[in-house]
Amino acid sequence: MEPTPIAATIATVRDAVATAKASGRTVGLVPTMGALHAGHAELIRTARRRCGFVVVSIFVNPTQFGPKEDFGKYPRTLEADRELCADAGADLIFAPNAGEMYPEGTLAFVEVPKLDAVLCGPRRPGHFRGVCTVVLKLLNIVRPDVAIFGAKDAQQSIILKKMVRDLDVPVEVQIEPTVREVDGLAMSSRNRYLSPAERSLAPRIFAALQSVQRRVADGETDVASLQSGLLAELIAIPGAKVDYAQILDAESLEAVGQLRKPALAAVAVFLGGTRLIDNVIVGG
Ligand code: PAJ
Repeated sequence: MEPTPIAATIATVRDAVATAKASGRTVGLVPTMGALHAGHAELIRTARRRCGFVVVSIFVNPTQFGPKEDFGKYPRTLEADRELCADAGADLIFAPNAGEMYPEGTLAFVEVPKLDAVLCGPRRPGHFRGVCTVVLKLLNIVRPDVAIFGAKDAQQSIILKKMVRDLDVPVEVQIEPTVREVDGLAMSSRNRYLSPAERSLAPRIFAALQSVQRRVADGETDVASLQSGLLAELIAIPGAKVDYAQILDAESLEAVGQLRKPALAAVAVFLGGTRLIDNVIVGG
């Protein structure tokens, strides 16, 4: 299989996209930070089905990492990523360096307040501002017809949809379901940090979310009760430190008392030094 070409500069990617558009092709963008896995591959395949020209961006975005987070050790696996991109049908990889994305003197940023004030927001100050800013830049660089994101990062997806709507960005945002390992663990580039013992405990995070789904299917609508059950099940995982376990309105991310509309059950759990997030939609 032909290796997927890599564009390192904004000018190169813009040229390639202009050529594709001139030949009548629609353009799809899948933004990533690399260390690609089957979850990313699914997003790329979706873009392939929908669009004539598929761009995958690979950029470990420094502005979305806190000072004590894993920016330095975040896995960088460009050669393997390139193979996965070819396999999934990408036409072009946009892999800029930090200087290309953030030339010295960069000042502007984008923020979506309120939606970033819950769940991961307060625990990772500046994270969503970094995500929104880099994604808006990628959308302005590539100018895709469709941009595809994963439900695995539910709050990120909700925030990006709101950014696009509020700022009239001319792109369709499509969210794809979470891809999981056979034992239920949500695929993540960070799963490779887990020790064998932590890896064997990790599926209990999704199991706890499935218990919420089961109780809702059995008729439970009291969110406080669902939330305390969820928390209890997570706390029971040996060595786990629960960062949060919350059930919020799936669109506004506001607190809910009774389940009447779809709600997001979202969790963040530390297993050793690795922070894992997962979520399911319940009710409605
Ligand atoms: P990254 O973590 O690399 O994820 C890139 C995209 O893949 C995101 O839309 C994410 O939700 C999706 N994804 C990750 N794991 C998935 C899984 N198991 N199933 C389905 N989709 C999955 O998210 C980011 O990068 C960055 O914040 C980014 C948006 C690229 C901005 O820097």
